[in-house]
Amino acid sequence: MRHCPPNINQWKGENKIEKIEKKITLSVIKADVGGFVGHSGVHPELLKKACEELDASPLLIDHHVTYVGDDINLILTHELGCNSGEIGRLARNTLSACTEVAKKLKLCGAGQDLLSDAFAGNIKGLGPGVAEMEIEERKSETVIILMADKTKPGAWNLPLYKIFADPFNTTSLIIDPSMHCGFNFEVYDLAENKKINFAAPEEIYDMLVFIGAPGRFVIKSVYHRGTSEIAAVSSAQPLYRVAGRYVGKDDPVCIVRCQTGYPSLGEVLEAFSHPHLVAGWLRGSHTGPLLPVEVKDAHPVRFDGPPRVIALGFQLAGGKLVGPQDMFADPAFDNARQVALDIADYMRRMGPFEPHRLHLDEMEYTTMPQVMRKLKERFIDLPEDKETGT
Ligand code: F6R
Ligand code: MG
Ligand code: MG
Repeated sequence: MRHCPPNINQWKGENKIEKIEKKITLSVIKADVGGFVGHSGVHPELLKKACEELDASPLLIDHHVTYVGDDINLILTHELGCNSGEIGRLARNTLSACTEVAKKLKLCGAGQDLLSDAFAGNIKGLGPGVAEMEIEERKSETVIILMADKTKPGAWNLPLYKIFADPFNTTSLIIDPSMHCGFNFEVYDLAENKKINFAAPEEIYDMLVFIGAPGRFVIKSVYHRGTSEIAAVSSAQPLYRVAGRYVGKDDPVCIVRCQTGYPSLGEVLEAFSHPHLVAGWLRGSHTGPLLPVEVKDAHPVRFDGPPRVIALGFQLAGGKLVGPQDMFADPAFDNARQVALDIADYMRRMGPFEPHRLHLDEMEYTTMPQVMRKLKERFIDLPEDKETGT
């Protein structure tokens, strides 16, 4: 299938997408290694420890350490490519050092995302979430890093769709010649451990059949169709069974490139102006609105939530992270926040009823097997329906 208009150069915006030779890898690695207080935040001592460990590493060009809720987020730049064992080991050691601090302070769930002792060099498949892209830095490389707590990677499906496929969010899809040919979406089927690519705009009806079910089908990455360059990558990963339970799926991160050939910064953030409902919240077993907040408000406490998202913007300069700008520290998002809080009130009134409480298959916590076992004998067969014979 042809993925671009005949005169590809016309749409590439050749003179707009300027590159320099050096390849830079931007890796965002996150883990919950202990909450303060409860599961609501990260203790400053852990952030300090993470910075010290990263400062001491010769592998990195630059780093920035931040948090959302109880998750530490390591934003790293280097030249070692994606899936680097050395970077994985550095992140692992850093998070282990933070775990030691968390244990000393008896923080909530100390070390909970570092379950496997048999570390093979690649951090994927363990508890921490990873989103990374290797890029040739453009003349001006604008990136936004989205980080969320109390939700799952499927939470990015709707905003990524809006950013890269919906012209009512991203007018540039219509008016910018360098984006007019659209984007390719790589979608993971987490249940079957498979992936599939869709070309937008032609295949959006087919794609929406899948990504509209974000508990199972998750957008992993997005590519520019003119240049085949990466545009966005999330921390979606196949589910791994470690220590008797599935790990590596919670509290996602996502890297999005912006400007000159990609959606503008404002078009990326605009996707969060309508707070959509996501799975997560208390005990990972509820539905609630995704609240866009600045970092200082990234402490989910009401009913352990509602789920929230932060957005840090950087300009990359030879791999140096120039920034961050705290993108949701903008009163223009106050309305979205108010809507999210109103939705939270509405949903909370449903208590343990679906759809506030997640469907039985999606809940992280359940007492169903025990209660069913206890009451099994009290269930009696209904009489057969005489007319249909069923
Ligand atoms: C959800 C979350 C919290 C905890 C809840 C129970 O992602 O972090 O809602 O699940 O506070 O925590 P524990 O299991 O420590 O009692
Ligand atoms: Mg947690
Ligand atoms: Mg968390």
